[in-house]
Amino acid sequence: SLKLVVVGGGSSYTPEIIEGIIRRHETFPVSEIVLVDIEMGKKKLEVVGNLALRMIEKSAKPIQLSWTLNQKEALENADFVSTQIRVGGLEARAKDERIPLSHGFIGQETNGAGGIFKAFRTIPVLMELAQNVHTICPEAWIINFTNPAGIVTEALLKHSPHKKIIGVCNIPYNMRHSTAEILNSSPQEVQIEFVGMNHFVFGKKVLVEGIDRTEEILKIICHDDFGYSPANIVNLGWTKTFIESLKMLPNPYHQYYFQTKEVLEKDINAFKEHGTRAETVQRLEESLLNLYSDPNLRDKPKELEKRGGAFYSDVACSLMESIYNNRGDIQTVNTFNQGAIPDLPPDAVIEVNSVITREGPKPLAIGVLPPAIKGIIHYMKAFEEQVIRAALSGDYHEAYIALVMNPLVSDEKMAKVLLDELLDAHKAFLPQF
Ligand code: G6P
Ligand code: MN
Repeated sequence: SLKLVVVGGGSSYTPEIIEGIIRRHETFPVSEIVLVDIEMGKKKLEVVGNLALRMIEKSAKPIQLSWTLNQKEALENADFVSTQIRVGGLEARAKDERIPLSHGFIGQETNGAGGIFKAFRTIPVLMELAQNVHTICPEAWIINFTNPAGIVTEALLKHSPHKKIIGVCNIPYNMRHSTAEILNSSPQEVQIEFVGMNHFVFGKKVLVEGIDRTEEILKIICHDDFGYSPANIVNLGWTKTFIESLKMLPNPYHQYYFQTKEVLEKDINAFKEHGTRAETVQRLEESLLNLYSDPNLRDKPKELEKRGGAFYSDVACSLMESIYNNRGDIQTVNTFNQGAIPDLPPDAVIEVNSVITREGPKPLAIGVLPPAIKGIIHYMKAFEEQVIRAALSGDYHEAYIALVMNPLVSDEKMAKVLLDELLDAHKAFLPQF
């Protein structure tokens, strides 16, 4: 038997993972799936669960699916536990986006002040999950999608008793796929050597069937109207000079750091037009759940691609499949550095190409940080460590320093204004403060 538990199973993203499991059933024969959620997500869980049942029924695969609000019971005998939770729901996300924006700062769910608060809300909840996994199903792998995925994964790997935890994101996957499209090849043939952290990762080298085509791809993306962003992020493109000088592929989230003013302007206009991204997602989710409720729907609907995390299940399912089969292929995951980047601590979590084995990911050597990004990577890693310190201690001053350190805040007076307002807005989900 092979059991998967999806924590946050009521998420409208769940049909993704169900489809991924069905498609891989030959090589990854999951026999039981349990969707877990909390009281707040009960109604969604019901709708999503029923669609998942119909998808499985249509596939005729021998997979038993159920759903529950009892996490501990669900975890019994689990082999894999995937997490896709949003503490406080989309309402909390809207506050993370709206409050900084209202003071003239980037308002984003994983970056800036909003991202810090998402970490504050999430880390304690997932620490508890990791503890439960460790006592109930100690052999299980936790595949963490919950944002900010890199920071959360580092917090868990360093501070929870459970060590079988891998963080994942669809950004490296998207970069590989869009690169393949641009170079007219298939994603399977493309390897990108990544360097950095989750939502702060650069593509250092692009290999197509082993041939270095970095220069070629950099030339192509050197138009200020060219970009590859998921549905949730602006797409401003990059200037020729930036790309030529950097000599690496930035990821879409880098726009927040290297085009802060332009993004802020766009975000403010977008906000005036249709509110925050959270509110757009709320509307999207409502129509998705409407679709899901149709008893004749037995597939993942196309509309799900309007979510920024589209295709995330490919990442999660390929990873679990490779662990299960001890495949030894290369995938991009968030795991301990272990010397891959010698200038970062071995226990810093980075987003890195790794050989995937039954024992987990083995990061491939990257080498020292390129001078152009050496400073900012060290800085962002120190910032991430500060966020974790604050999230675990619940200390006001540690939290304040996390905000001051963030490049998208970086203002001593405004850090306090943002901190106080966000602490108050989120107090129901911040028991540690
Ligand atoms: C990207 C990121 C995910 C994030 C998602 C948001 O794909 O990699 O980490 O959760 O976008 O998408 P949404 O549709 O919720 O705005
Ligand atoms: Mn992500």
